[in-house]
Amino acid sequence: MAQLPHGVAVDLLSLRGRDYLSSSEFSSKQTYALLELATQLKSDARRIDLGNRVLGLIFTKASTRTRVSFQVAMARLGGQTVDLNPQVTQLGRGEPLQDTSRVLSRFCDVLAIRTYAQNELEEYAHWASIPVINALTDLEHPCQALADYLTMQEVFGGLQGKTLTYVGDGNNVANSLMICGALLGVNVRVASPKGFEPLVSVINQSRSLAFGGADIDVFNNAAEAVKGAHVVYTDVWASMGQENEQLHRKEVFKDFCLNKDLLEKADPEAIVLHCLPAHRGEEITDEVIESKFSRIFDQAENRLHVQQALLASLLGGL
Ligand code: CP
Ligand code: NVA
Repeated sequence: MAQLPHGVAVDLLSLRGRDYLSSSEFSSKQTYALLELATQLKSDARRIDLGNRVLGLIFTKASTRTRVSFQVAMARLGGQTVDLNPQVTQLGRGEPLQDTSRVLSRFCDVLAIRTYAQNELEEYAHWASIPVINALTDLEHPCQALADYLTMQEVFGGLQGKTLTYVGDGNNVANSLMICGALLGVNVRVASPKGFEPLVSVINQSRSLAFGGADIDVFNNAAEAVKGAHVVYTDVWASMGQENEQLHRKEVFKDFCLNKDLLEKADPEAIVLHCLPAHRGEEITDEVIESKFSRIFDQAENRLHVQQALLASLLGGL
């Protein structure tokens, strides 16, 4: 197995001015280095002052964790955040994206965008002259995956060779977990009902990026996929924008609930993660969320630390 211990000295300066639109944007080394910087920032071993830089938040969908963690991360870096919700800007009245993106580039230093289509995010990035960060699209949630793997690293001391099993819909969160996990040398298994697996293109992309022999596997049986896993992860069965499929999905996904019986198939030291918000009693039981195996609130906190590391790196504050 290739060796790339975390803590390896890597030049994060190479990330200055870059976008973060997908988990595949950075190399294994750069991703490990971001986790290392996040760890330093979290423990106060490192302080970074960006000096009055401004982050613009363009959120077309609801958000608690991503919005607040970006705001707090920017404040801790000595910067500020401007809320550019399309409902309160001319975007909501149809101002073209290519104009908006260029104008905002004159006011802000970085943009974090939450929207539906990945190609809309890419379009923003194309026209912007400042870094653009994916704050969730229908395709990916890369900042979430960074926080998830930081949490896993904190618990296990390392990531390579460990196995994370994601149970549920092959959605944005599953996609970023596969890509980012592959880069970090984590074996990622995804268990979904037939027809709800992640996109074949994302599975193949993850396999092509796999570091240190990481395996990326897809199952249609949750118990089989969870067997011996170190992390068991789930997310809602109907994502934002799929609310009208909720009832149908509840039926299709009924064998994919993360309950005590399923968790017992995992490694005895396994931890439970969920990106939140959760539908308690659907994809995960109350009992499992509240169990000693759950690291869900540490995981939520880590959004702050990884995004602080990301902002500092993209804005060249190192
Ligand atoms: N996990 C996550 O992205 O949460 P929010 O939708 O609240 O930002
Ligand atoms: N898959 C979920 C994640 C929310 C953080 C959604 O897109 O709604």
